[in-house]
Amino acid sequence: MNPEQLDFKALAGGIEDRVILPAGYKADVLYAKGDPLFSGLADFKNDGTDVDYDSRSGDEHDGMHFFGMDSSGKYDPESSDRGILVLNHENLEDATLHETPTAKEDAIAANNLQELKKIVDREMNGHGVSCVEIRKDNGKWSVVLDSPYNRRLTVFTEMDMRGPVAGEDFVKTKLTPTGTTRYGTMNNCANGYTPWGTYLAAEENWYAYFQVGNVDNLSEKHRGWLARYGIEGAGWSYRQWDRVPGDQYKRFGVETSGATALEDFRHEPNLHGYVTEVDPFRPTQKPRVRTGFGRFSHEGAWVAPVQEGAPIVIYTGDDSRREYMYKFVSKAAWSEADRNGGLSAGDKYLDEGTLYVAVFNDDGTGAWKALSTANMDLAGTHSYDDNGTVYQYNFASDAEVLASARLAADVVGATPMDRPEWATVHPNTGDVYLTLTNGNSSNRPSTDLDGANPRAVNSNGHIIRWREEAGDHAATSFEWDIFLFGSSADASSDYNVSGLTADNEFSSPDGLFIDPRGVIWIQTDDGSSGIRGKTNNQMLVAIPGEVGDGESVTVTTSDGNGQESIQTFVGGNAEAVQLKRFLVGPNGCEITGISMTADARSLFINIQHPGEGGSEEDFNRNVSTWPATSGDATAFGEADNRPRSATIVIYREDGGEIAI
Ligand code: FEO
Ligand code: CA
Ligand code: CA
Ligand code: CA
Repeated sequence: MNPEQLDFKALAGGIEDRVILPAGYKADVLYAKGDPLFSGLADFKNDGTDVDYDSRSGDEHDGMHFFGMDSSGKYDPESSDRGILVLNHENLEDATLHETPTAKEDAIAANNLQELKKIVDREMNGHGVSCVEIRKDNGKWSVVLDSPYNRRLTVFTEMDMRGPVAGEDFVKTKLTPTGTTRYGTMNNCANGYTPWGTYLAAEENWYAYFQVGNVDNLSEKHRGWLARYGIEGAGWSYRQWDRVPGDQYKRFGVETSGATALEDFRHEPNLHGYVTEVDPFRPTQKPRVRTGFGRFSHEGAWVAPVQEGAPIVIYTGDDSRREYMYKFVSKAAWSEADRNGGLSAGDKYLDEGTLYVAVFNDDGTGAWKALSTANMDLAGTHSYDDNGTVYQYNFASDAEVLASARLAADVVGATPMDRPEWATVHPNTGDVYLTLTNGNSSNRPSTDLDGANPRAVNSNGHIIRWREEAGDHAATSFEWDIFLFGSSADASSDYNVSGLTADNEFSSPDGLFIDPRGVIWIQTDDGSSGIRGKTNNQMLVAIPGEVGDGESVTVTTSDGNGQESIQTFVGGNAEAVQLKRFLVGPNGCEITGISMTADARSLFINIQHPGEGGSEEDFNRNVSTWPATSGDATAFGEADNRPRSATIVIYREDGGEIAI
């Protein structure tokens, strides 16, 4: 049963350098960039000279899960006062991480390799995943310093490759000659968690860290892979790590410089772009890279509710413009005996199965197409046209299908979406919800609309949802509708399809979570649209209905070069689902990452990159100095007041359940 009423007054939008909450709620900063995991570290100075990010919080907190723990140290989802918080550090705030914004360029210009290595080590250690034990005492959460569960995974951490891609020739490199190990995880955006007590860290914009040089000795197929994944030249997030001597750094330069692949890093990109499984409860075990979910820009990996005897199903979207929505269906059937099974349960369920990609039909139905060599659509030779350069490719094995999943999805006619971000499954109805964060005029022109992506430009995004046939997550057909469209409240009704008002206008939905009570939480990452001028990024709450509870509507939109009308299906509207603004973040931040304790009395979220868009010379302080300004700042050196990403925990002041 869904709750009937949300019990708080909607916030107005706000542009203030603080976390704004409804009356009766409060928040503490729990774990900010630079906070230590162990005693004995130097105090965090926050002036760009700090090192040892492999022992303290990394930057840009993103996806996150709270794993409750019982008194014997086992995973206990019901525990609401002790547990391990696991979170991703997606990226770096370049303006605030180093002593000066130009520190790296200066070291390169001076050919000061010692200084450059120090800077690059800081960057590689600032990425990855944190595992942090936390406890609630006297109503307040804090980090347990020196807990045996505390650890950081970084871009240096050794991991095991698992699943069909492990050991293939195309993942063998000078550093990983067997193709069964890999170093590091990076650009970990959203996440997932399994019923066997493990964390899933997705790798999103990993492709942008590589620089491609001379690859004349790569096959046409493998050059086609580089092109289809955008790993061509120095991309927008190329960090020049390969300028530092040593294989741990040189691997970010992709070249056929050696006599064989075992003497260079031509294959290094093929080792990245998967989902990595981490066992927070067995900290000595190496993480395992699960290649069975395919290689693309994984936003996250969301496990559908499990059922004894049924396969494990994981929803995972590819967050790039005009990319696709996927799901993985395990070969093994779930057994309750595997709860708490850790990475060995992961071996059982995640390394063998079938990857599918979604086709959304205009009539409100959809289909999942299998991506494997058993699908005869994938047989033979295909071609990929990269702005006039054509690459021929085939699929010699299931491992190749997975490692070039985008090319396989192209062949089966998957539906290009307006950037799939987070997914979540409704605990009562089984409906799957997916944020489609936004589009633009070049990838969503009026001439290329479909029912599931019906608005030209779509700069404010929408949330689509679907119900698998007969409620079976492993089914290959479904019905969909659109739960909500982002919009300014003052946009025309053709565009503001869900009837948003000042109390709930939003843009660029990204983080998404339906809690066990059936309350949906929507977080925004709105960098450019009209909404950001009215409010900082925010979190909204609603009580969703179910797929099919709305109506068929015709939406008419324009890209400026002509308008187009298209029929789609809209579930309810903002008023019917009680959509209300619950939180507004500090200046320049994105709101992302969400996890709630089982008692619904503590809600963890992340404030990512406060100060973004500020002036580099001033370390973004002209936009934000949060959390130093929050009144809840932790005690570590705030002299310089550079803004910091942080996990906050939200409580109701009377200790009650949050939001209802
Ligand atoms: Fe890192 Fe798709 O957001
Ligand atoms: Ca995201
Ligand atoms: Ca985003
Ligand atoms: Ca982000």
